[in-house]
Amino acid sequence: VLPDTPPRTLSDRSLAAVADLIRSGRAKRIVVMTGAGISTAAGIPDFRSPKTGLYHNLARLNLPHPEAVFDIDFFREDPRPFYVLAKELYPGNFQPTVSHAFIALLARKGLLRMLFTQNIDCLERAAGVPPELIIEAHGSFATQRCIECKTPFPDDAMRAHVERGDPPSCPREGCDGLVKPDIVFFGERLPDAFYEGSSIAAQADLVLVMGTSLTVHPFAGLPRLAPEPVPRVLLNRECVGDLGTRADDVLRLGTCDAGVRDLADALGWRGELESAWEEV
Ligand code: APR
Repeated sequence: VLPDTPPRTLSDRSLAAVADLIRSGRAKRIVVMTGAGISTAAGIPDFRSPKTGLYHNLARLNLPHPEAVFDIDFFREDPRPFYVLAKELYPGNFQPTVSHAFIALLARKGLLRMLFTQNIDCLERAAGVPPELIIEAHGSFATQRCIECKTPFPDDAMRAHVERGDPPSCPREGCDGLVKPDIVFFGERLPDAFYEGSSIAAQADLVLVMGTSLTVHPFAGLPRLAPEPVPRVLLNRECVGDLGTRADDVLRLGTCDAGVRDLADALGWRGELESAWEEV
């Protein structure tokens, strides 16, 4: 007896079938999960791509291992390598990509249930995704505070320190703790919003996974939270996580920008997408 395979949601494993699902109104609670791969086209290196990834280019900072640049204990010992990187990554010098614009278009059409991002570049907000529909699982550069007493540090002073590559210390009298942007370092807990929000992934009627290696947990576990018949679309250079193992998974390997343009074409949204992107 055949195992009772769940009914198929998609007519076939193609972006055209995904577009039909959206146009027919059967997908209106779309949950998007993104990583650094959607910002490489903006000029921000990702972490693990061979040759271009950040972790392959930190040798000049003579770190014990690349991830040390985001390790809280190493930061306490020596914050300078992180501040060298912060100067390169700091928001303000980069523009959203057409992939960011596509997510903002989903929101404008009332189809975005939630965006979970691992990125710290704030490009989703810059593209116009409403903040209440963004869960920045690994924090962002938007705010900063003392790592010891948690006293917030002013934004403009922080930007000046980052520009100078000079790690600031706590503004509070008697505390000389280091100041760090509210980015989740290895060894730190993710924001409460991530844990509170992860049940949202189970309510999705369509999942888009874009530009991530799905290497870092607990974020990497999100795609599995969508129940079986919910289609999961991967827009990524390579196959990652368990994407492709389910009957309704759709793999569109290649750049995120090419993938979202194909999906926009299938939806008849291409013109709208390109002009939305020009406006950001
Ligand atoms: N189009 C599609 N895929 C791309 C593109 C692109 N333009 N550029 C890169 N990719 C793919 C890479 O092939 C890789 O699979 O995006 C993925 C990026 O993976 P990582 O570099 O590991 O980035 P990410 O998944 O966001 O890392 C997760 O690791 O260091 C931590 O906290 C950091 O949030 C980060 C987490």
